[in-house]
Amino acid sequence: MMRASIIGTGSYVPPRVIKNQDLERMVDTSDEWITSRTGIKERRIADHETTNEIATKTAKNALKAAGISPKEIDLIIVGTVTPEMLFPSTACFVQAHIGANRGIPAFDISAACSGFLYALDIADKYIRAGVNKKALVIGVDLFSHIVDWKDRNTCVLFGDGAGAVVLSGEKGKSGILSTHIHADGHYWKMLYTPLCIASSPFHNKPLENSFLRMQGNETFKVAVRTMGEVCQEALDHNGLKVEDVSLLIPHQANMRIIKATAERLGLPEEKIYINLDKYGNTSAGSIPLALDEAVKKGVIKKGDIILFVAFGGGFTWASAVVRW
Ligand code: UT7
Repeated sequence: MMRASIIGTGSYVPPRVIKNQDLERMVDTSDEWITSRTGIKERRIADHETTNEIATKTAKNALKAAGISPKEIDLIIVGTVTPEMLFPSTACFVQAHIGANRGIPAFDISAACSGFLYALDIADKYIRAGVNKKALVIGVDLFSHIVDWKDRNTCVLFGDGAGAVVLSGEKGKSGILSTHIHADGHYWKMLYTPLCIASSPFHNKPLENSFLRMQGNETFKVAVRTMGEVCQEALDHNGLKVEDVSLLIPHQANMRIIKATAERLGLPEEKIYINLDKYGNTSAGSIPLALDEAVKKGVIKKGDIILFVAFGGGFTWASAVVRW
């Protein structure tokens, strides 16, 4: 059976580190509050690099790890809600900047923090169907561009970063075993970022600021419940038990959400990969960034069952199970 195997991972974060102590000088907060409520100690912030540049660097790192030429890629999908432009898509810029072939499909997916798993789901289906052979899937977000740096409720939570995988259609037992993607737009007001566009002579839309808004507490509760449910759905689909999971790589939003999700599943803490202390919530970047780090550290071994789970604005949520 044809499966999409991950043959290379890559990531990139901007070099500038902003520690909790730096934020103490910007808003009424403390390292103690941020650490105890979220687990975040520092984050990376892009001070000159753009979404397209960061996505391109990430893509090049993933291609290098896969050991293939950009000419072999026949599909590019980017999960992002902080593109550099409304159009062209980030994926089109990546296609041009890495030197991929003319004519291959390249497009972005908007699913906030679930963006990478949404993109992975689509690429997996194209590969399984035999339409494409090698896909580049990227998650990238620069939330420093959309948070209100005067709002302590949100600015302390996010960071900039990206990760990517190269998928290859291969016969065998390893690769993506399942993906599940979901949404419930009734919850849109819990977490959103309005678009600030000038009103036209025909439509006098009042201008509002385009900062991210979040009802943190409500989002927290739905996230914990939903992430547990989608993990269970993924395990059931594959006939797996929690004990079969070698590593859980969750969306890195809040240590308390991650721990509560693992507790609901009955998964021991040592089987969770966490790096949000260094990067904060990088939205669509968070899962592939954590995956790349885990791969580089040698945490993942051949045959391991890796469970991925995400939750974000929309609300959207998603899972993937991979046999390494
Ligand atoms: O990425 C996908 C989706 N996003 C998430 O999953 C995020 C979900 N939500 C969360 O992670 C948490 O709800 C937060 C970390 C955002 C907030 O934690 P919380 O335990 O839910 O705190 P809270 O919102 O109930 O606020 C508690 C208190 C409030 O003060 P009062 O009203 O009790 O006096 C806030 O004003 O903490 C205050 N507060 C802060 N204090 C210091 C809020 N932000 C800060 C801050 N520093 N940065």
